[in-house]
Amino acid sequence: MKSSDKIRVAVLFGGRSAEHEVSLQSAANIIQFLDPALFEIVPIGIDKQGNWFLDHDIFVKSLEHNNVPQLGDDHSAWFTPEWVGKPVEKKTEKALLPSTGMMFDVIFPAMHGSMCEDGTLQGLLELADLPYVGCGVLASAIGMDKDVSKRLVMGKGIAVAPYLVIKKEEWQYYSDRIAQQVNEKLAYPVFVKPANTGSSIGITKVKTPDQLAAAINEAFRFDVKVLIEKALNIIEIEVAVLEALEPNCDPIVSVVGEIRPRHEFYSYDAKYIDAEGADLLIPAAITNEIKEKARAVAKEIFLTLECEGMARVDLFVDKETNQIYFNEVNTIPGFTQISMYPKLMGASGISYSQLLTHLIQLAMKRHTRKRELIRSYV
Ligand SMILES: Nc1ncnc2c1ncn2[C@@H]1O[C@H](COP(=O)(O)OP(=O)(O)O)[C@@H](O)[C@H]1O
Ligand SMILES: [Mg+2]
Repeated sequence: MKSSDKIRVAVLFGGRSAEHEVSLQSAANIIQFLDPALFEIVPIGIDKQGNWFLDHDIFVKSLEHNNVPQLGDDHSAWFTPEWVGKPVEKKTEKALLPSTGMMFDVIFPAMHGSMCEDGTLQGLLELADLPYVGCGVLASAIGMDKDVSKRLVMGKGIAVAPYLVIKKEEWQYYSDRIAQQVNEKLAYPVFVKPANTGSSIGITKVKTPDQLAAAINEAFRFDVKVLIEKALNIIEIEVAVLEALEPNCDPIVSVVGEIRPRHEFYSYDAKYIDAEGADLLIPAAITNEIKEKARAVAKEIFLTLECEGMARVDLFVDKETNQIYFNEVNTIPGFTQISMYPKLMGASGISYSQLLTHLIQLAMKRHTRKRELIRSYV
């Protein structure tokens, strides 16, 4: 295939999110494994201040040295979100890209967390009329919010851990009343979580009432809404779900994986800092009956939350009763080669490169479908 026939994929990485560093690792892997016979890659970095830039040279160099890419100060070409969806020749002086045609055909957002995975970026890409990988605005926003996603899933009769939601102002004025409610309605231990973070950022397991206020204050550093959730005695399982390429077909549901944290819970350190922080078991060490139930529940959650493209559905299984609980959905799950989503798909017969191609094809199909909609009515 000639270079000009290839699909030009902009891989977006970094971002104004507490999960910036995780994104750099996901993007590095995606760029390495996108099929070079089909795709031309345009890496676009977003730094923590929200500046966008094209920096192909530096990115590739750091990949060669097998390092995680960094966003330094020496960006060779600046880029601005306003250029998204515009023809290339008017926009950049530096000949980083061919001088005709569009800058890119499709966007692969390899970014996690707020302003990346929560519908905001997806909204920008909708406005720019560009195809992009993964969930649309609605499912991205719902999936990011641990409270709203739980409410919708509960509506389908799927269990969630009992929880309370508090807003920052409520906590400022009614902290005593909230502490009392935690005692009466949940009992300790509890998990305190920002409603909209990922990677366990801002999450504390609270064992006694005297630790509650500090945990809530910590969570409010990251969000204006916080969940206080009963800590369950559970096995953690995860299921990867992928939209089918054919219309009207059930999504592809992976085998079930299990996370066995070696820390008190699956914390940021257990996920990313401590190489021995958790064991990932594929398949999960649970009975076939529970696995099948979990897969059916994961599919139902994917459909209920109107997910598109991909989502990793994280569930709990009660160690005593085997009851399945919905924990959360990740609409842009970790995407390194050793991350659960690609590994689960791999164990289900879809290789990392095939998965990337499948996701890009889905993005382009959705864009074509949406283009057919009527936008004026007179
Ligand atoms: N209700 C709960 N009961 C037991 N463990 C929990 C509960 N909620 C969270 N955890 C633990 O905390 C981890 C992170 O919580 P989670 O809600 O998945 O946040 P994140 O989106 O940051 O991954 C989970 O993987 C699990 O180890
Ligand atoms: Mg989680």
